[in-house]
Amino acid sequence: MKKIISFAIAAVMLFTLCFTVASCNKDDNVLVMATNAAFPPYEYVEGDKFVGIDVEIATAIAEKLGMELQIEDVEFGSIIGGVVEGKYDMGMAGMTVTEERKKSVNFSDTYATGIQVIIVKDGSSITSLDDIFEFNSDGDPVALKNPDVKVGVQQDTTGDIYSSSDVTGWGLCDVKEDGTVTKDRVVRYKTGAEAVEALKTDKVDMVIIDNEPAKSFVAANEGIHILEGENEYAIEDYAICVAKENTELLEKINKALKELKEDGTIDKIVGKYIKAN
Ligand code: ARG
Repeated sequence: MKKIISFAIAAVMLFTLCFTVASCNKDDNVLVMATNAAFPPYEYVEGDKFVGIDVEIATAIAEKLGMELQIEDVEFGSIIGGVVEGKYDMGMAGMTVTEERKKSVNFSDTYATGIQVIIVKDGSSITSLDDIFEFNSDGDPVALKNPDVKVGVQQDTTGDIYSSSDVTGWGLCDVKEDGTVTKDRVVRYKTGAEAVEALKTDKVDMVIIDNEPAKSFVAANEGIHILEGENEYAIEDYAICVAKENTELLEKINKALKELKEDGTIDKIVGKYIKAN
């Protein structure tokens, strides 16, 4: 009998312990944001602090939600997976809304726009898209000017996704209909800064990346510039991603974003980091 009782007590204790651990695992009052803090002016590290547009908007959202913001700096490509698994409550990383990503996560209303641009070295033979692609009379790319061209990107970003496609999809790779890549001209780096470093040391001929980080990298490095004019590669919307089942948080985020847009907070934050030209 004694044995049975102590077994029962032990079982109850174990159950309570598991239950508390499971529910305390994530503090309800902490909003965990996954980002990749190598993407100025949206998120970067200054001293020992995370700063940038996304960081400030997220702080303002957390404040509205009565929560404390906790930032996890991870590889860009692991943000969505971590949000799906419930490791992070949300992903905010100058993240572009794409149909493919929407299959895994939900996106909030958009809070910013990004444009994919091309960075080259000063004096590069690439001065416009016409130096990269051969176009047909409809203006669609049909071939590459230089079959040995190499492009640097941050891995798993839209710059990577675009350039990894076939020429007819504005990419730089040879891709068979079944998706097999027969020639990969994309060099994928952990951060945009590493891709820029590769450009400076002639490991790649160009870098495709979002315009505002591009401007930051160009300002911080001599001898490189953004292809100006009609050379924008793609226009994108940035939003916060949340796990599909977490509709309650998504609604709260959208409500907060709406208020922050309406009262001018978002414009103020953006204006602090991006000076109008
Ligand atoms: N907008 C691009 C994308 O969603 C690049 C984002 C990269 N962000 C970052 N924090 N490194 O794929």
